[in-house]
Amino acid sequence: MIEIPVDIPGQPSSVFVARGALENLPSILTMHAATKLPRRVLLCFDRNCSVHAQQAVRVLRAAGVIVTEFGLLAAEDAKSAAVVETIWDAALAARLDRGDSFIAIGGGIVGDLVGFAAATYLRGVRVVQIPTTLLSMVDAAIGGKTGINRTLPEGGLGKNLVGAFWQPSITIVDANTLRTLPKRELRSGLAECIKHGLIADASLFRDIAHDASELANNHEPSMDRLLPRAIVVKTAIVARDPLERCERAKLNLGHTFGHAIETLPTDHGKLLHGEAVAIGLVAAAAAARALKMVSAEEASSIANALASCELPRTFHGETSAAEVIRRMGFDKKFEGGVMKLILPRGIGACEIVENPPHEVVLEGLRAIGIA
Ligand code: GLY
Repeated sequence: MIEIPVDIPGQPSSVFVARGALENLPSILTMHAATKLPRRVLLCFDRNCSVHAQQAVRVLRAAGVIVTEFGLLAAEDAKSAAVVETIWDAALAARLDRGDSFIAIGGGIVGDLVGFAAATYLRGVRVVQIPTTLLSMVDAAIGGKTGINRTLPEGGLGKNLVGAFWQPSITIVDANTLRTLPKRELRSGLAECIKHGLIADASLFRDIAHDASELANNHEPSMDRLLPRAIVVKTAIVARDPLERCERAKLNLGHTFGHAIETLPTDHGKLLHGEAVAIGLVAAAAAARALKMVSAEEASSIANALASCELPRTFHGETSAAEVIRRMGFDKKFEGGVMKLILPRGIGACEIVENPPHEVVLEGLRAIGIA
């Protein structure tokens, strides 16, 4: 088992990475000072991964924990205040107190929702994140971002506009859960891993590009090499800047463009989050190219790595540059009227660019087929 500490002053946390960790859940909870074995848990899970939830329920009950199960159907419209209320009410009905714990089993939607419910229930109870998607293993389930979506004033979904920073007491990554993950979801998670390489680890980026076809098919030795490396990029940044005052914003590379297109209908149905991020990374690379922050070769290597992971690089659907820029204005990286774009500086570093020239944003959008 690999333990990756998340050294946030006053809120130490850890990510445990091990195949089979779910079967050993009670002993992992017991061994970590921040969790202990709770008396009661509200175990919230995505119904699409009931098999993993049932495993957790079984081992916790065998260890004497009183478990209340709460199944959710993970979809962006479930990330609502109404669903958070039902989680609070389930916790009240189960008489959870401040010594007890929430557990979230599923992908980013369940983790964000349950994390937010935990952050606010009794002014905050412990939450254990058990991600079952690659995307949440390397990103969403680490670092304590929780939240729900809201409808924008002019219509359309505003993602994660209400939430709180609430660090999980621990995050447990059991890559065996990826065996039941649809391949499209797995590849969507690879977009976040590529993002982590681009932000801080050029050799990680190169290795993902090299092993892309194995990773895209969940070749387990390749996945076991990837996971800790991709996670460390995130934990290191979160430890330095847990509240996203500055450096943590770099983890949003590709997201300002990505979030703006993620909820738009496309010719092939809805984009997954990682697919929107993949397209957003291409837009960010083109904008960086326009600012001479990356070379033409570097911009193509980004698109090629995404292509090797079978991820989309362009947007196919009805929209316009004006519409996407309007949506970018609601992104949380827009502060005091200042648009902040996170752009790559070569491979393995990135920078926050404030108020990029309009033409640079348009260049990014043109690269993904939006004019
Ligand atoms: N997913 C970006 C962050 O956690 O900051």
